[in-house]
Amino acid sequence: MIGQGKRFMEETKYRCLEESDQNKGLPQPPLVLPMDDDKHPVVDLPAPQELKMPKLDLTEAINNRVSVRKYADKPLSQSELSYLLWTTQGIKQVTTRPATLRTVPSAGSRHPFETYLLINRVQGIEAGLYRYLPLEHALEQISLEEGLADRITAACMRQAMVRNSGVTFIWTAVRYRTYWRYGERGYRYFHLDAGHVCQNLYLASAVVDSGCCGIAAFFDDDINGILGLDGEEQFTVYIATVGKKP
Ligand SMILES: Cc1cc2nc3c(=O)[nH]c(=O)nc-3n(C[C@H](O)[C@H](O)[C@H](O)COP(=O)(O)O)c2cc1C
Repeated sequence: MIGQGKRFMEETKYRCLEESDQNKGLPQPPLVLPMDDDKHPVVDLPAPQELKMPKLDLTEAINNRVSVRKYADKPLSQSELSYLLWTTQGIKQVTTRPATLRTVPSAGSRHPFETYLLINRVQGIEAGLYRYLPLEHALEQISLEEGLADRITAACMRQAMVRNSGVTFIWTAVRYRTYWRYGERGYRYFHLDAGHVCQNLYLASAVVDSGCCGIAAFFDDDINGILGLDGEEQFTVYIATVGKKP
């Protein structure tokens, strides 16, 4: 019997693919999602080019990288959060194609992710659920509902580091952004792209004296439901917690 994983690899080989929508001449989808609701407050973040972060030797950072699951109560600063967002999804340029060029690579520069944040402890930002607006380098406040952290922790199979993190990153893929170009093979690329993003978060966390831990153990339908995603056109691919080192 061929299991689902094997079938996925088999059926996303080039010889199984149909012509992509891009090749058929269909228009490409927007580079980023618009604000969910115009009434949502927007939280501005310190501009990336003005951040003064401590210098850290790259080889040392790679050598010392570990997953950190226990955090101090100390909050992250807004500059630190700004830096983490910049290093994981920051837009450096919008090309004439148009496409975004970011601090991380992405297959075909399709950059399918929308980053949601569970903010528990960041100085001057109310605890709640936010979405990163990469073109504005700002946050859209989505919900300040009580109990969000507990619900997201439960969706992550009760991994306490989510509740205890300063901030938890939730990377969701907008299916058609990548699918438009790559069709079914694009599903492979969501997961590959996400690895690059989270690796930057691991390394950037070290710069802001924090630890990070990637999370793939989550209940898809639960986390997508909390974020208000349908799970097909947009769905969670990867999650990571960050918090100050104890
Ligand atoms: C794709 C992926 C998913 C992971 N999911 C979890 C997780 O759900 N919970 C967790 O505690 N650690 C998770 N981790 C962290 C790994 O357990 C960790 O990287 C591994 O044990 C090696 O330890 P190190 O990162 O300290 O080198 C994940 C790591 C990766 C790359």
